[in-house]
Amino acid sequence: MYKIGVIPGDGTGPEVTAEALKVLAAAGEKYGFEYETTEYNFGGEHYLATGEVLPDNAVEELKKHDAVLLGAIGHVDVKPGILEKGILLKLRFELDQYINLRPVKLYPGVESPIKNKGPKEIDYVVVRENTGGLYTGCGGFSMKGTKDEVAIQEMVYSYKQVERCLRFAFEYARKYGKKARGVGEHNTVALVGKTNVLTFVFDLWDRVFNELGDAEYPDIKRDYYHVDATCLYMVINPEWFDVLVTSNMFGDIITDLGAITQGGLGIAAGGNINPEGLSMFEPIGGTAPMWTGKNAINPLAAICSGAMMLESLGLDKAARGIEAAVKLTTPKMKSMAANEMGYTTTEIGDMVAATLATL
Ligand code: IPM
Ligand code: MN
Repeated sequence: MYKIGVIPGDGTGPEVTAEALKVLAAAGEKYGFEYETTEYNFGGEHYLATGEVLPDNAVEELKKHDAVLLGAIGHVDVKPGILEKGILLKLRFELDQYINLRPVKLYPGVESPIKNKGPKEIDYVVVRENTGGLYTGCGGFSMKGTKDEVAIQEMVYSYKQVERCLRFAFEYARKYGKKARGVGEHNTVALVGKTNVLTFVFDLWDRVFNELGDAEYPDIKRDYYHVDATCLYMVINPEWFDVLVTSNMFGDIITDLGAITQGGLGIAAGGNINPEGLSMFEPIGGTAPMWTGKNAINPLAAICSGAMMLESLGLDKAARGIEAAVKLTTPKMKSMAANEMGYTTTEIGDMVAATLATL
């Protein structure tokens, strides 16, 4: 019996989470696994009503579960940063979810803004380091409010942080890389960095990448790209990629680009992973306040995040099943964009669940 913590959150978060849970139920039935869910009301509404961002026992509470499913966090009436830092980043950090895994996969029938590239070419994952770098909050102001003001925000990485992230990328490539999946000649990990300018931090990343690769992963092909060039290749040569691994900030930026190449935020899934602990799965798209309550938002990103959650629980077959059902659903949709799908949010959830049952 798996225990799943559910944080529907703000905006369209609850709507897409409901569809992810609908599909999860269909998967449980088909593949014969059982689970129970506990819902937590963390988010903007709770903050506005009580002044509390996250209850003191939130982390301990969540730790009682095997995985967490999150909708979206953010509220138009709350100053940017409060909920993001106080809920999302706090949970990522305190649960030591040091990997943010973000697949960039174009599904059948989905329109990409990139000409001449299809599902065969746009098929890779980004392993984003998720607890270090520019996100640690190291830094500060001096002489704030004067013209002599200095602001510092430091990119902080330890050997251990870099090593565990790279190890995850290598392991992931061995298990789910293009060769492992039978769609390529190699399992490849490419480090995305900026060794030509950030000569301390990415020197460390590059050294550990090669040391670890030589010592423990000689079967995995290694590539390196500067982050700026990566943006270019994500558009013109996405087929070069298999598993990309990068720092927190670079990963944040390139995965928004990746999301748009796979049809938009409506289909972009993700997972905050602690390979030794509790992981939390969330669609990359935000709260979409404009579409809240309209039954118009695309739930596929949340549904695919649910599939990633099952994979992390070792329920690979069920995860592949959901993926297959999604691949049979996308060709029937007019668009991945909210309100343009040709179906409502709940209809898409129903379609995926029904398709899964017939597989
Ligand atoms: C993401 C988001 C978050 C991040 C924000 C909301 C803190 O952009 O998950 O990519 O920067 O990590
Ligand atoms: Mn982001």
